[in-house]
Amino acid sequence: MEFTFSNKRWLTEEEVKADVKYDQMNAVGFHIPGAFDKVLAIDECWLQDDISNRIRNAVRDYAYEHEFSFYNIRQQEGLLRNLMIRTSSTGELMVLLQCRVEGENDINQVNKLLGFVADKFPEITSLLYVVNNKCNDTINDLDVVVFKGNDHIFEEMEGLKFKIGPKSFYQTNSEQAYELYKVARNFAGLTGNELVYDLYTGTGTIANFVSGKAAKVIGIEYVPEAIEDAKVNSEINGIKNTLFYAGDMKDILTQEFINEHGRPDVIITDPPRAGMHDDVINTILFAEPKRIVYVSCNPATQARDLSLLDAKYSVKAIQPVDMFPHTHHVENVVLLEKR
Ligand SMILES: C[S@@+](CC[C@H](N)C(=O)[O-])C[C@H]1O[C@@H](n2cnc3c(N)ncnc32)[C@H](O)[C@@H]1O
Repeated sequence: MEFTFSNKRWLTEEEVKADVKYDQMNAVGFHIPGAFDKVLAIDECWLQDDISNRIRNAVRDYAYEHEFSFYNIRQQEGLLRNLMIRTSSTGELMVLLQCRVEGENDINQVNKLLGFVADKFPEITSLLYVVNNKCNDTINDLDVVVFKGNDHIFEEMEGLKFKIGPKSFYQTNSEQAYELYKVARNFAGLTGNELVYDLYTGTGTIANFVSGKAAKVIGIEYVPEAIEDAKVNSEINGIKNTLFYAGDMKDILTQEFINEHGRPDVIITDPPRAGMHDDVINTILFAEPKRIVYVSCNPATQARDLSLLDAKYSVKAIQPVDMFPHTHHVENVVLLEKR
């Protein structure tokens, strides 16, 4: 989960009706849809283990007590920006604090806060921070600093271990991720002889998950650190039939790449919410795999991409997976077969 700090607290309808007044309007919680600068204060989030609530609320209370400033996204000012908490099935726990730091005093404050968190929550195995003075919240281009513990956590699935760094994507719901990957693997219909491409592989989770049923799997992903983790994940699991490449999909997955590495029998693709770039779709159409398994967290962009793939592929099966309980979001898996 990622919680946002803001000095523009969103007041609920009940609070407005009851004319509730707060001393200050700081909040840590979730963005309000349609209001990028407003945040709904969260006391209890039911989507994650309760340790997450205790950590977030302790950070918030410490920040209030020591009068830390909360971020103002319009003015681009304030110290505390974002708190990412990753729990895992292995019991390992990652906490990453994102701050805007103007000088030495700010960095001292951050160190004191993290010292407090480290003492109060010895169960945190990876306590990290990142200084982000940019306008946007992405940290891929920034240096993450280890305050205490490791720079990664491990997840586990079907006896496989997965190393996950702070910049690496990992499905937010580990238990349902296992269900999702089983659907994707079934749809892929592997017999052990196939060359599989796993597009948008993240830390190589799907690539490694299906590798036992394929001849070879090639994973491609944008974030270099995730690709390094993907390689480590193959190594620590004794998997020898995977290859990983880092870069923008449209630049890596080209006709030359296909000619060099071979035409895939199956492509598994799991793009971000924006879906696939037109160039990527055209290269997939050029590659002509027998089957495409399209995993998506955004059915709207998935539908758009399916209509482009319709030039050569028909939809054979659809299976949504509830990865985000208590929300309207689903992860949708579609099997396409070449006509
Ligand atoms: C929905 S995640 C899928 C990750 C992985 N399949 C999994 O299940 O853990 C999408 C991934 O695409 C990567 N990504 C986003 N844009 C990309 C691009 N233009 N080229 C390559 N990878 C990209 C992200 O970094 C992220 O790891």
